[in-house]
Amino acid sequence: MSKDHEYQPLSNDTRELLDEADVDAPSLQPTGIRKFSAWIMHHALAVLLVIETMALVVLVTVLLRRPSQADGGMPLGSQKVLYSPALSAVENEVKVYHLGFPGDLSPFQIPSSPELDLMWSDLYNFGVSRITKEEAARLPNKTHAIPGDPGHYIAELDVFHNLHCLNKVRMALDPDYYPDWRISTSNNHISAQKHATEHISHCIDWLRQSIMCHVDTSVIVWQWDSKANESRVKGNVAHTCRKFDKITEWAKERVLVNTYDPTVRIEDDIVIPVLHQEIS
Ligand SMILES: *[C@@H]1O[C@H](CO)[C@@H](O)[C@H](O)[C@H]1NC(C)=O
Ligand SMILES: *[C@@H]1O[C@H](CO)[C@@H](O)[C@H](O)[C@H]1NC(C)=O
Repeated sequence: MSKDHEYQPLSNDTRELLDEADVDAPSLQPTGIRKFSAWIMHHALAVLLVIETMALVVLVTVLLRRPSQADGGMPLGSQKVLYSPALSAVENEVKVYHLGFPGDLSPFQIPSSPELDLMWSDLYNFGVSRITKEEAARLPNKTHAIPGDPGHYIAELDVFHNLHCLNKVRMALDPDYYPDWRISTSNNHISAQKHATEHISHCIDWLRQSIMCHVDTSVIVWQWDSKANESRVKGNVAHTCRKFDKITEWAKERVLVNTYDPTVRIEDDIVIPVLHQEIS
């Protein structure tokens, strides 16, 4: 039912009747009948108004109650999404991941090499962006203006930081190839590798929090395997994914135009709005 239809205060028929009743021009009907129909009309209007009001109250109540847990839906407030200037670039798609075992390896499953390094850095080396002041003002956290780029502020989408982190973890797993990323292990404390060890620890924990934050609810299944004569877990299932290409496009359109100089302080008049604002 359309809102227009639902809220239409008076049907056209009623309006016509009322107009007729209000008309001063002499009517062919006898006065008594005219008075009676006017009385009916006024009361019909009152009854209509009462019904309208009740309908409105019921509607508002239903609308307010709809997102509550009692109705088996989402708890109130669970749909809040913080503003990000990249939300406009978010599009979903269905994807089946590479299983990652022989027979279904991804292009990223090759030995450490300049080629592999390039593939990884191509995923995020454009990740630091320049956003407008209007966008910066809507962020849930303050960010700094870019010196020499008036009206623009520095920002990085966390997806690119996540990928950077995973790449560092990958490198730490092959310390013979990436000696800078060798970390201390249980039986081998290397004080010279304090930076790498702390950085990798940060990255693993950041990725843990990111995975828990984004809670992928795609479903892994079990299917019967007649060869093995048992049901086997199947990873090649459908996932709802945000289109990574759309987000890289967004970031590539906003790469910094000059080298960011973090030593320059720029004051601004941006007042960050209260957290948990709902995007509209
Ligand atoms: C960002 O905002 C959150 C929520 O208000 C706050 O807890 C956090 O400390 C802020 N961080 C920075 C760097 O501004
Ligand atoms: C599969 O298992 C069932 C029950 O254990 C057995 O009866 C059957 O012979 C097995 N089939 C094959 C092909 O191994």
